[in-house]
Amino acid sequence: MISVAIDGPAGAGKSTLARRLAAEFGYIYVDTGAMFRAVGLYALRAGKDPKDSVAVNALLPEITLRLASIEGEQHIYLNGEDVSKAIRTEEAGMAASAVGANPAVRAFLLDQQRKMAETQNVLMDGRDIGTVVLPKATVKIFLTATPEARAKRRWKEYQEKGVDVSFENVLADVKQRDYQDTHREAAPLKQAEDAVLLDTSELNFEQSFEAMKQIIAAKV
Ligand code: DC
Repeated sequence: MISVAIDGPAGAGKSTLARRLAAEFGYIYVDTGAMFRAVGLYALRAGKDPKDSVAVNALLPEITLRLASIEGEQHIYLNGEDVSKAIRTEEAGMAASAVGANPAVRAFLLDQQRKMAETQNVLMDGRDIGTVVLPKATVKIFLTATPEARAKRRWKEYQEKGVDVSFENVLADVKQRDYQDTHREAAPLKQAEDAVLLDTSELNFEQSFEAMKQIIAAKV
């Protein structure tokens, strides 16, 4: 089976690029961030603090996640409910980052993530795919960009969706999430030794896409 691991910080353009690349190569796209977001959302809805690992761990047996690809789009189901849209808020992103620091949550999701790569060709994106989930991935890419470049893209997306949020707030969130994701003990965000580094700060979408396409094509 072929597996492509794409890791990097929030807002580097991973998911949009990964989705397009998966379609290009005919692989199943697995967005592992969506799984952490769904667990974070469940904790928020249950009225728990996502940082409270004792409370969150007690919720895990109640959670069943399912990923499905519908017309090329990944949908995620939380106990049967399609939460693909509900998980795309800044609050759910922060909650995901908080539950992502919890080793029990990571263990809960790890099996499911590995199983998906056993039976099908996958392009999986996240924070620890090349380092922990699929250490033997066929191709590993570490996608990054400066915090300012990433915050600018996020802010633009919010503007397009009509969400009123200041650039300073988005930048502060990006920096906070970077800090949380890189400083946690459990599977912190870091570049795998054998990953190819791609900095997209100065690249537009098409240029980033072409660069990644070449990196993948060279190895598969
Ligand atoms: O990629 P994203 O923004 O949807 O991810 C949300 C959070 O989930 C991210 O800040 C950290 C966590 N996460 C993780 O810890 N490990 C992964 N493989 C994917 C996401």
